[in-house]
Amino acid sequence: MWRTIAALRWATTHEAMETITVREIRPEDVAAADAVLVGAFGPPGSYAAELRRYVALDPHGWLLAELDGRAVGTAGALCYGPFAHIGLVAVRPDAQRRGVGAALMERLLAGLEARGCASAVLDATEAGAGLYARFGFVEVERTVRYVRQEGGAERPPASRAVTPLLPADLPELAASHPPIFGPARTAVLASYLRDAAGRAFLTRDERGEIAGYLIAQPAAIGPWAARSAEDAEALLGAALASGFGGGVKAIVPGANRAALHHRRLGRKGQGATWGVSQT
Ligand SMILES: CC(C)(COP(=O)(O)OP(=O)(O)OC[C@H]1O[C@@H](n2cnc3c(N)ncnc32)[C@H](O)[C@@H]1OP(=O)(O)O)[C@@H](O)C(=O)NCCC(=O)NCCS
Repeated sequence: MWRTIAALRWATTHEAMETITVREIRPEDVAAADAVLVGAFGPPGSYAAELRRYVALDPHGWLLAELDGRAVGTAGALCYGPFAHIGLVAVRPDAQRRGVGAALMERLLAGLEARGCASAVLDATEAGAGLYARFGFVEVERTVRYVRQEGGAERPPASRAVTPLLPADLPELAASHPPIFGPARTAVLASYLRDAAGRAFLTRDERGEIAGYLIAQPAAIGPWAARSAEDAEALLGAALASGFGGGVKAIVPGANRAALHHRRLGRKGQGATWGVSQT
């Protein structure tokens, strides 16, 4: 009897002592947040550069959760006006199933709503699907993750002339972007472009208008959008020719048949993700 009471008291005290706090990620928090992300998603790689980019683009959009003062969770979003794109939702394995993920989502969605961002999209892992469902997200499609080891697959032939995408092209790209993708993402594209000298490409149609673009990140294809399969393929060929040291991945919406056509990029990844959105 005594032992049971002692155990109960310990459990209560232990839980009462755990305080979850959620605050904005500051530039000096990036290393701690990166450790959370690497712990949650596993190696290889660091998320520090991606996180720095996102925090610079929106200093109020990226959150760090602390459990008794220890960094244990991250989440954030870029708000594009009508919708937000949520990403980097992660909780350290030793702090999961204690409500940290829920605390992050609650604060994130409240912040987005306060800023007039009425809906949100994200690519969910199987691990995250339950959490998002509790916040009203529904599955709209499956996305497919392709991975390719360097030199491991055929490169598509260039069927269109591809030219470098330069910062001077951004105003024109912003003007032609909405019909392809949705809201203009000029600041986001400019940020990627700054880090991708010589690895950003453009195609034009017979009238000279932008028909597609692709920015190659160090280990990922994209942002990437094109009006035709031929433009998409030529851009992909140029990106693959620019080289990827340790392999490359591309995340393709399952509903985008034209993008799925580019499976010559490599093999289909094991971890197919879910695309979900909130209405
Ligand atoms: C997905 C992820 C962020 C969830 O974080 P989390 O902190 O474990 O989330 P929560 O604790 O709020 O909720 C998770 C579960 O724990 C349960 N839970 C919450 N508090 C609990 C508590 N005190 N005791 C027991 N269970 C609890 C929740 O009910 C929920 O149950 P469910 O699995 O039936 O939905 C985390 O698992 C993770 O980082 N996974 C790896 C990376 C990843 O896949 N991220 C998602 C990318 S889209």
